[in-house]
Amino acid sequence: MGQVHDEILPGRVEHANLRDYTLAVQQFRWEDVERTFSWYHTGKVNMTHEAIDRHVLEGRGAATALIYSDPSREERYTFADLQEHSSRFGNVLRKYGVGKGERVFIFMPRSPELYFSLLGVLRVGAVAGPLFEAFMETAVKDRLEDSGAVALVTTPELLKRVRREELPTLRHIIVVGRAVGEQGIISYEAEMAAAKAELEPEWLTLEDGLIMHYTSGSTGKPKGVYHAQRAMIQHYYTGKIVLDLRPDDIYWCTADPGWVTGTSYGIFAPWLNGVTNVVRGGRFSPGDWYRTIERFAVTVWYSAPTAFRMLMGAGENSLAGIDLRSLRHVLSVGEPLNPEVVRWGDKVYRQRIHDTWWMTETGAQLICNYPGMDIKPGSMGRPLPGIEAAILDDRGNEVPPYTMGNLAIRTPWPSMMAKIWNNQAKYDEYFRIPGWYISGDSAYMDEDGYFWFQGRIDDVINSSGERIGPFEVESKLVEHPAVAEAGVIGKPDLLRGEIIKAFISLREGYTATAELKDEIAAFVKAGLSAHAAPREIEFKEKLPKTRSGKIMRRVLKAWELQLPAGDLSTIED
Ligand code: PRX
Repeated sequence: MGQVHDEILPGRVEHANLRDYTLAVQQFRWEDVERTFSWYHTGKVNMTHEAIDRHVLEGRGAATALIYSDPSREERYTFADLQEHSSRFGNVLRKYGVGKGERVFIFMPRSPELYFSLLGVLRVGAVAGPLFEAFMETAVKDRLEDSGAVALVTTPELLKRVRREELPTLRHIIVVGRAVGEQGIISYEAEMAAAKAELEPEWLTLEDGLIMHYTSGSTGKPKGVYHAQRAMIQHYYTGKIVLDLRPDDIYWCTADPGWVTGTSYGIFAPWLNGVTNVVRGGRFSPGDWYRTIERFAVTVWYSAPTAFRMLMGAGENSLAGIDLRSLRHVLSVGEPLNPEVVRWGDKVYRQRIHDTWWMTETGAQLICNYPGMDIKPGSMGRPLPGIEAAILDDRGNEVPPYTMGNLAIRTPWPSMMAKIWNNQAKYDEYFRIPGWYISGDSAYMDEDGYFWFQGRIDDVINSSGERIGPFEVESKLVEHPAVAEAGVIGKPDLLRGEIIKAFISLREGYTATAELKDEIAAFVKAGLSAHAAPREIEFKEKLPKTRSGKIMRRVLKAWELQLPAGDLSTIED
């Protein structure tokens, strides 16, 4: 059973856009949102038209669309500039015969060129697959292979992690940052300079592809969550009512486009709403982030609990001499937002941090704290008008308030994933209860209809808001010559939410030493990525397994937390 909470931070009237929630829910119709898109009238769909070209056509071409900065660059681009650069890139893709429905992956650190190429991919009707720059060889190969990517945009540095000889479908590699003479490598700079600056978007339907993000489950390799053009309906709408974007806003989403937040809310929502989008490259540091807000006079800021906890940890001194008064609205996503952090934000930033809940699969926000609404610190908020959420038991029956169960969403909604690439069975698992999407999160609802996150139902790990599948890490671990078997769990951690802990049994002839632990962790880091590497390793003589040989992560977790291990009837011996 969930707890009854009575702490309420009253909504502020100056942001009263959803003050009358009940009325908004009653009156809401998706069609009213759809009507604002040109395709509603013309039948011709393309994200780049709605997010870029439309603003130029309507006389806002000179407005700043992108402020890009990192420690070595600071550049501004208007909507007209984005139209030009994405058209040039689209023409480059066309020249090499890349078009509608084909998957083009983008593997590079944040830079203006990343955004130009991604928009260029969408302009020709191809499906964009952004990859986080920290991915290492195996992670990159798995994703390019599974998606059948035909082209890749990358940098000379990251190209070293691409095993081209093992990727027969990958026809073209476009390298940004240096004209490379190597065979089979296309120079971004040379091609962009030669390409035509105009390109009409490829006209699509709402069901045609938009973007793919690979994400983790508890079994199997990462799965390709495929979103269709129709997701833009919800990107635009939530940009308006949840991010509260207004024409003069300077908006900063801190997420990398390798993750869904960095595309749905780092590209689509702000540009569909025509606002200035700040992108800050480089590493996180409290001073750097605060100066970014101050320098660009950021008004709306979307970040994540781990970052807020780190900022809180850095103390109020890190704010000395910095003016954050431009901020009007602050939001969070990705993991549970601690009530303590909400209270701290209220005190130090004089801003309520608005928690929002959604997933890669849902494509856009679903349960949120809206500007103007009363906030109960620790709650994810209430379903968006137009969205029905419920807590179901395992048979699909709704349970009473304060009872924990499966957090489920009534199907469909505009940004609901269109498929899991090449894996209909995985897709169907989410919809196993007719009429509902089963999120895999457990939660309860209180009597006011606020939702409270409780945990994951499966073994998926959430470390610093990054979703990690234990299976992928275990598979990499057993590739190490010393590792016989491995079981991976999320261990609760104050700063990161969870950290990855691996239990390992060693092969004959290997001795458990601290050096070996470091070596194994480094091996995962080099093969997958830094965020997938275990921060803690414990060697065990034997791991608990079912009679069918499956490692029982539940038992490992119970060991770790010194809890009873529960039903052990299926354990090996
Ligand atoms: O467990 C939930 C957690 O993150 C998962 C989704 O992760 P991902 O697909 O990587 O997307 C993250 C950004 C949309 C969820 O199943 N999660 C997300 N938001 C919250 C959250 N947990 C608690 N509170 C949230 N606000």
